[in-house]
Amino acid sequence: MIGRLNHVAIAVKDLAASTALYRDTLGARVSQPLPQPDHGVTVVFVELPNTKIELLEPMGADSPIAKFLERNVDGGIHHICYEVDDILAARDRLKAQGARVLGSGEPRIGAHGKPVLFLHPKDFCGTLVELEQA
Ligand code: CO
Repeated sequence: MIGRLNHVAIAVKDLAASTALYRDTLGARVSQPLPQPDHGVTVVFVELPNTKIELLEPMGADSPIAKFLERNVDGGIHHICYEVDDILAARDRLKAQGARVLGSGEPRIGAHGKPVLFLHPKDFCGTLVELEQA
């Protein structure tokens, strides 16, 4: 059911320093910072040949990643995103198998303008999973 790895999201405290690390030390192509107030984060996209890394910096104390950074003071992998062809079919299949879908269970428009859902990390090897309709 799941397809390509769309991105790995890494929560960071200092977006400028993390962007410089990926650009200058690792030699990756990086985007300009993109504020996403609807999601409570500012994002930098790191473009790799086969996938993307998203560096997420919290926007304010209410940001969904603020708590994560309290527990992971150096930053860390926040979620991974897999592509699916049909997000509603994927959701229904997962729910039928007992997986927990976060929030209302209805897809939201994600960082790339496409419908996304998040799955409970306890059901997926301790990893928060995002599904994005490709
Ligand atoms: Co994501």
